[in-house]
Amino acid sequence: MSPIPATVFARLSVDLGERSYPIIIGDHLLTDVELFRGIPGQRIAVVTNTVVAPLYLERLSATLNAAGKQCIPIVLPDGEEEKNVTNLMAIFTALLEQKCDRKTTLLALGGGVIGDMTGFAAATYMRGVPFVQVPTTLLAQVDSSVGGKTAINHPLGKNMIGAFYQPQWVFADTDTLATLPDRELSAGLAEVIKHGAIIDIEFFEWLERNIYALRARDREALAYAIRRSCEIKAEVVRQDERESGLRAILNFGHTFGHAIEAGLGYGEWLHGEAVGCGMTMAADLSVRLGYLSASEQARLQSLIKAAGLPTVAPDLGELRWLDLMEVDKKNEGGQIKFILLKPLGSTSITAVPADQLSATLHACTRA
Ligand code: NAD
Ligand code: GLY
Repeated sequence: MSPIPATVFARLSVDLGERSYPIIIGDHLLTDVELFRGIPGQRIAVVTNTVVAPLYLERLSATLNAAGKQCIPIVLPDGEEEKNVTNLMAIFTALLEQKCDRKTTLLALGGGVIGDMTGFAAATYMRGVPFVQVPTTLLAQVDSSVGGKTAINHPLGKNMIGAFYQPQWVFADTDTLATLPDRELSAGLAEVIKHGAIIDIEFFEWLERNIYALRARDREALAYAIRRSCEIKAEVVRQDERESGLRAILNFGHTFGHAIEAGLGYGEWLHGEAVGCGMTMAADLSVRLGYLSASEQARLQSLIKAAGLPTVAPDLGELRWLDLMEVDKKNEGGQIKFILLKPLGSTSITAVPADQLSATLHACTRA
């Protein structure tokens, strides 16, 4: 093999003292031997799934071998509904069968499902082994591969079992987005829009101007959206790694979104679709509380629609909505906490009056 050198668009850092790590964003990273030579360990357990393995496993495996490392593939079934304890156990079983020790590195090759599950396995296998993220969806490149939240789902609640565990490297190879279905690209745009809406109005305005370039996979536009998203997320995580306050803003749209995912059954709506719709619901609630103007709400809704995301939620029934939102990790003392916009580009974290929440649920859902 003659390795293709990477074109690195951006090299960022998540600054967390001794747990700091680089995020490398660029083209052809998967074939860059020198980049992968730098990851810890000689034995690399590559956790991926049945969709991503035929696309990228051989390429990565060849690169790891050329870098003097042994690749141990672990291929799981695909889908949000597979982010569960059965597949977590399947990772542990494969690691034990292969006699993997504490020096074995776990590398996640895939989207957020593989990244979250592999991260949790890395946090707990032999009480913690090195972890590397190679995100291959837009959503994973702009959000889930950065920040160290790892988890599996429980039938009663999304991401309820997990740990904070930071990777040691993140390699976001933008080439891999070429094979991503359009629906998955749109799902990733939800988290990009979220970053603008909560903290960076200039980025939000840039997204309003460039949303169709992003959907057309314009190389420069995507590279910028990934870089800016990672910068924003890295800075929030730097300030509040374990979500004692500020980091909760990254859950804008997720209180409603997680309820949609669990309520419909994992995998029915994509995570990004549920977040996109959840953001329109949180914006509706923000307007009802006088935090956001109707014109700002309309701008957010138009951008979410233009990204190809749903803006009307399924009607789960009010009691079921409340039941699902009551197991959200942000809640305190039985009160549901919401991330609201106050105004567009900044947030307020608050409990809300029951009648206002009820009005939003009725306004934003369809049977
Ligand atoms: P996903 O991992 O299910 O990937 C989406 C689909 O694309 C899957 O079918 C996958 O196999 C396929 N795929 C992956 N890469 C591909 C490629 N390059 N070409 C073609 N197909 C490809 O979903 P996702 O949207 O990446 O991630 C969603 C998950 O991320 C959710 O479980 C969510 O809870 C989690 N998440 C975690 C964090 C965090 O901070 N840890 C943040 C946001 C979301
Ligand atoms: N996606 C939410 C967080 O990382 O905090």
